[in-house]
Amino acid sequence: MARNSQISQSSSLEPFASPDYLDPQLQKVLEDACSLLCQWFAKAGQTGPLPLVTGLPEISPRMEGLSGEALMADIQLLMDGSYQPSHPGALAHLDPPPLTASIVGDLISAGLNNNLLAEELSPSLSRLERKLCKWFAEQLGMPLGSGGVAASGGTLSNLMALVVARQLSGLECDPSAVIFASADAHVSLAKAIRVMGLPCDALQRVCTNTQGQISLEDLEEQLKRLRSKGRKCFAVVATAGTTVRGAVDPLVELANLASREGLWLHIDAAIGGVFALSKTTSTLIRGISAADSVSVNPQKLLGITKTSSLLLMARKSDLKAVFSTGLPYIEPAWEEAHGGEMGIQGTRSAEVLKLWLGLRQLGKDGIKQLLDQSILRRNYLEQKIEPSKFNLLSGPLHLIAMTPKGLDDNAAAAWSVLTRKFLLEKKLMLSRPIHEGRYYLKAVTGNPHTSLELLERLAILLNNSVEITNQ
Ligand SMILES: Cc1ncc(COP(=O)(O)O)c(C=O)c1O
Repeated sequence: MARNSQISQSSSLEPFASPDYLDPQLQKVLEDACSLLCQWFAKAGQTGPLPLVTGLPEISPRMEGLSGEALMADIQLLMDGSYQPSHPGALAHLDPPPLTASIVGDLISAGLNNNLLAEELSPSLSRLERKLCKWFAEQLGMPLGSGGVAASGGTLSNLMALVVARQLSGLECDPSAVIFASADAHVSLAKAIRVMGLPCDALQRVCTNTQGQISLEDLEEQLKRLRSKGRKCFAVVATAGTTVRGAVDPLVELANLASREGLWLHIDAAIGGVFALSKTTSTLIRGISAADSVSVNPQKLLGITKTSSLLLMARKSDLKAVFSTGLPYIEPAWEEAHGGEMGIQGTRSAEVLKLWLGLRQLGKDGIKQLLDQSILRRNYLEQKIEPSKFNLLSGPLHLIAMTPKGLDDNAAAAWSVLTRKFLLEKKLMLSRPIHEGRYYLKAVTGNPHTSLELLERLAILLNNSVEITNQ
């Protein structure tokens, strides 16, 4: 490290920031990188959601390290080939433009390079995580003693919740264990079952009603049948915002059923959970407060940069009870428990920083506006789609999927491919999910740059696409 101070006047980029002086080269390279990024945003409207070119820079490091300028040129190539969430026509997925303060949070978090594994490696950030999770759980109406942990994505939050549920039900690796979830619940549950070493039929899919919500009758019937066969049914996963249409399961009724039947209630609110942050939208996920555990992904709508997911527990102590193994190489926790003892991940970055900064930048009014506008856009698009031409799948949130009426499944698949391609040429990007064996085109209306005029144009193109395909 003495080397740094000796060559303080050198113009080459030092590999590490000097601990002794403000390094102008470091500052320049960070400013250059910020400038590249700002230019990338500024051009978003002209390009399109998907890049025209996908060049890749050289992969392997050269014998000699690269200068700051050469690194910037490489980054530019990657940026030119990147998906552009800030384009107003980026409507395909739950991947909105990044919130400004959240970008800053990521940069600062990288610079701090603290580790949420242990308190002595992230003194202030560990406390921030604990307090922010508690605050978030309170917004959901969860009880005193609730709290949680940040996780790198909803898949991991769901997995951790189910591991806790199983462990606390005393089942360990019993292959007769059963979890219920609706047919429309997210695929991450199937992954969780595999990781937990359970057979495929440990995840029992329950059919949905016409609104895409789990059928309570079917759930009760399956529960009775499986229990009579000796299966150990221990959890039900409700979804607050299904991935294709944004349906919200009947949370109040599921909470009653779970409590009556001694089932753990996990709510996968990766999509819908953030709607609790505004009074006007919190009614859409009424009943969420009664969950034993909840997954929330602020990355999906609020623009918190990836990854941002929280696992929130009614009893925060459940996390420690299940995941704590002792960290023999780390000083004891100062307050409650080390971050690395609260979940599956060990070393992890301070993802909570960009969530906290992002929420603070928006303020309660900004959050409300983002949530309200996303639903307003979905309503608008829904009104403009001709009901005589399409079967629509939607729900109370900001997702809508459509497939033409009067076409068989093969013709609908062909329509979806052709129409998506045609729309992409017009810089409008929808996704093409398959639901109950049939292809749909799906729009997610959370992009704050998407105007009602653009949605009107999209609806006209969609309405016309059916006639074009039928010719
Ligand atoms: C309802 C739902 N749950 C969980 C997930 C998984 O989240 P992630 O992609 O962050 O792992 C998704 C992803 O789209 C989802 O839609």
